[in-house]
Amino acid sequence: MKYNVRGMKIFVLEDYAQMSMKAARIVAAQVTIKPQSVLGLATGSTPLKMYEDLIHMYQQGIVDFSEIISFNLDEYYPIEKENEQSYAYYMKHHFFSKINITEGNYHIPEGLIVKSSGHDKALEQLCNNYDQAIIDAGGIDLQVLGIGNNGHIGFNEPDIRFESGTHKVLLDEETILANSRFFKSIDEVPKQAISMGVRNIMHSKKVLLLASGLGKSEILKAMIFGDITPQVPASILQLHNDVTLILDKAAATEILPFLTQYEIGLVR
Ligand code: GLP
Repeated sequence: MKYNVRGMKIFVLEDYAQMSMKAARIVAAQVTIKPQSVLGLATGSTPLKMYEDLIHMYQQGIVDFSEIISFNLDEYYPIEKENEQSYAYYMKHHFFSKINITEGNYHIPEGLIVKSSGHDKALEQLCNNYDQAIIDAGGIDLQVLGIGNNGHIGFNEPDIRFESGTHKVLLDEETILANSRFFKSIDEVPKQAISMGVRNIMHSKKVLLLASGLGKSEILKAMIFGDITPQVPASILQLHNDVTLILDKAAATEILPFLTQYEIGLVR
């Protein structure tokens, strides 16, 4: 089913597999109509199958990634690229090493910098460089997003300044707890991260947000139908003019009763 709520297109798919395929097709279409697309990419468990589907499409010759440029949303801080929990490792392992993206065309915020007396300044410079690199590439054509249980996008946690660019963030206790499932123990989860800011996300020409599972249902309701507030960072997307949400039925549980009146094609 397809809905239009406050200008946001919402697709509700049967399950995670269908949700992932729908998202993969949208990304593939973007790359096909513009081979030099600039993609904003996300990590987390949600887009994993979308990446798998895109790899299959590449293997079947349906899509060619050789000219795309990509910018990932975020990275833990500090973390080594070789650490299996780093987003650099995730992207290499789950996507980049399996497609024909050109070396040097993908960007991930730097998770580790050499400690020096000018440490904070150097970090700020890296963040500014990341923002500038996105601008130099012509801006992001399509930004893929997941959503945290607390409404974060990238690692923009509640109370975020909407005007922020790439910056260092202190992770919420809730985020550390949610992401500890990927680490041996909660103590190993980095307490900080480098994340694109809300400003970067809002500047993307198109936004594609994926959500799966009952656990995301409450926050999606707040994001879509609630107030636009820094308490729910994803709520800012109500103001973006080209947002598509791809949800599976479980993620849509809380919003489904409210969606009927927004069905696209409904004759009133
Ligand atoms: C992580 C990432 C986000 C991601 C979110 C949800 O912390 N920084 O980019 O969207 O949390 O993750 P998941 O898809 O595993 O639920």
